[in-house]
Amino acid sequence: MQKQEKIVQMFNEIAPSYDKANKILSFGIDSQWRKFSVDKIKEYLNFNNELKVVDVACGTGDMCYLLKEISNAKVIGVDPSVGMLDIAKKRFNDVEFKVGYANKLPFEDCSIDLITISYGFRNVVEKDEALKEFYRVLKPNANLLILEFFRRENNGFIAKCRDFYLKKILPIIGGILSKNKAAYEYLPNSIDEFYSNDEFKHKLNEKSFKLEFFKSFSYGVCSLFIARKV
Ligand SMILES: C[S@@+](CC[C@H](N)C(=O)[O-])C[C@H]1O[C@@H](n2cnc3c(N)ncnc32)[C@H](O)[C@@H]1O
Repeated sequence: MQKQEKIVQMFNEIAPSYDKANKILSFGIDSQWRKFSVDKIKEYLNFNNELKVVDVACGTGDMCYLLKEISNAKVIGVDPSVGMLDIAKKRFNDVEFKVGYANKLPFEDCSIDLITISYGFRNVVEKDEALKEFYRVLKPNANLLILEFFRRENNGFIAKCRDFYLKKILPIIGGILSKNKAAYEYLPNSIDEFYSNDEFKHKLNEKSFKLEFFKSFSYGVCSLFIARKV
């Protein structure tokens, strides 16, 4: 099995316990960061138009729900994991869900007003292709919102605490809740292999996105990027 297929298979396996494990392991803070992100993006949207918004790597649909709450936008969730989507469909019936990968989105060129991706981009193996794909489907000047755990560059006390929690505690609790310890060992490893904030700023620039807003939460545990297609 290829790396990307293995990742999707892993999400299929943990889908039934994903929401519960998330709440416990993050102490509910992941929801607050999603909520902050969606409140922030409101400042960038033109509500005079009928908006078409896509949440990529939507998982069980939390971000779709928040996006639906802020407007009467058409919200479409896209994810390659059928297991995660099955749960999303049961939770939210006013959102359209489609099976798809970030690097091959089922939308026409320049047709989307906003793309969001929360805690999902790390899992995309073909990251450059995905950024190109976001650029292709977004309308001119439309925004891309990425909320993610970026790799920390410094090795101070907070970073050490975070690493201890992610590498030693989280796999044990996540493993008990999901009966899949490997999935929760994958999380810290995927952060170690991911971009730092600075690397990602450059990456956005390279792919013709202009950074409009950046915020780091909880001493850099997680970061929000809002960029515009230029
Ligand atoms: C940690 S979950 C995040 C789900 C949701 N966005 C949230 O905020 O809870 C990561 C999601 O990324 C999806 N994913 C993995 N590879 C992907 C890819 N290449 N393209 C799009 N989504 C992908 C997984 O299926 C999974 O649902």
